[in-house]
Amino acid sequence: MYKPRVYVTRQIFPDALDLIETVANMEVWPDDEPPSPEQLRELLADADGAVINVMDRIDAPLFDAAPKLKVLSQVAVGLDNIDIPEATKRGVLLGYTPGVLAKATADLAFALLLATARRVVESDKWVREGNWKISHHPMFWLGSEVNGSTLGILGLGGIGLETAKRGLGFDMKVIYHSRTRKPELEKEYGFKYVSLNKALADSDFLSIHVPLTPETNKFIGEKQLKKMKPTAILVNLSRGQVIDSDALYKALTKGWIAGAGLDVFDPEPVPENHPILDLDNVVVLPHIGSASNRSRREMHLMGARNLLAGLKGERLEECANPELYETLGI
Ligand code: DGY
Repeated sequence: MYKPRVYVTRQIFPDALDLIETVANMEVWPDDEPPSPEQLRELLADADGAVINVMDRIDAPLFDAAPKLKVLSQVAVGLDNIDIPEATKRGVLLGYTPGVLAKATADLAFALLLATARRVVESDKWVREGNWKISHHPMFWLGSEVNGSTLGILGLGGIGLETAKRGLGFDMKVIYHSRTRKPELEKEYGFKYVSLNKALADSDFLSIHVPLTPETNKFIGEKQLKKMKPTAILVNLSRGQVIDSDALYKALTKGWIAGAGLDVFDPEPVPENHPILDLDNVVVLPHIGSASNRSRREMHLMGARNLLAGLKGERLEECANPELYETLGI
């Protein structure tokens, strides 16, 4: 009996691999660095399906090189690495993993928010470098108070919502701006919908959760940063390209805003000599929003299940191009 050929482009949890191996001939990319676009085209040339990652560029040349593909299963919520209309045109189902990572990513949004506000990383470094020579000083290491302040959320999707809910736990007033207004959430949680300009102007902490699209590329630039409070802290866990990095550096050095907590950056990885890394008012993490053991395992398992459903010609648990179901008659 024909066993479908599957390529997994990064190492994932073993039980997810076991699941795939029950039905497919599987190969896994062994390196820590992702395959280059040329390598990926070669690897998928004969594949019926693949488990892919945010670093894999999925575009028309890839589909040309991989004519047997039925399903691509991305283990992430963001899909900005994929030409979705092209996948749909080629009849390739696209799985992805929203939901299962929202809570872990929101936890990290708060870790970044608190760390930046209360200067956690900066003061830890100061202690380790042997600077704690005098005892407790009433005027040292003052930071921003989180409780009672205003939390602005840009993009009230799954992760934005979980971050907003955590704000309520810190007695914060939550305002949001989103493509679509969510009256039911406003009613349930007391969030207030505001214009983008008001979110920029009124937030003490502004947390970005919009997906990267042509419309949100450099969504936050000089003009927007200048509208923020000089005491405000910007937090980004979406994609680095949503913020204009040069404008952000200017804002942080000229005092347009007070600080930034960044899990993502443009470019990634951040070059080690990038001037943003010299700033004490910035906390930078290496894109680890969903990187808890539980969330990553659930993402990988869901990725495996999406892949297997696509190979069998069934509906996926989470599909980014469900309009294909009708064309494929499933
Ligand atoms: C996502 O899910 O889009 C993250 O950025 C990658 O884990």
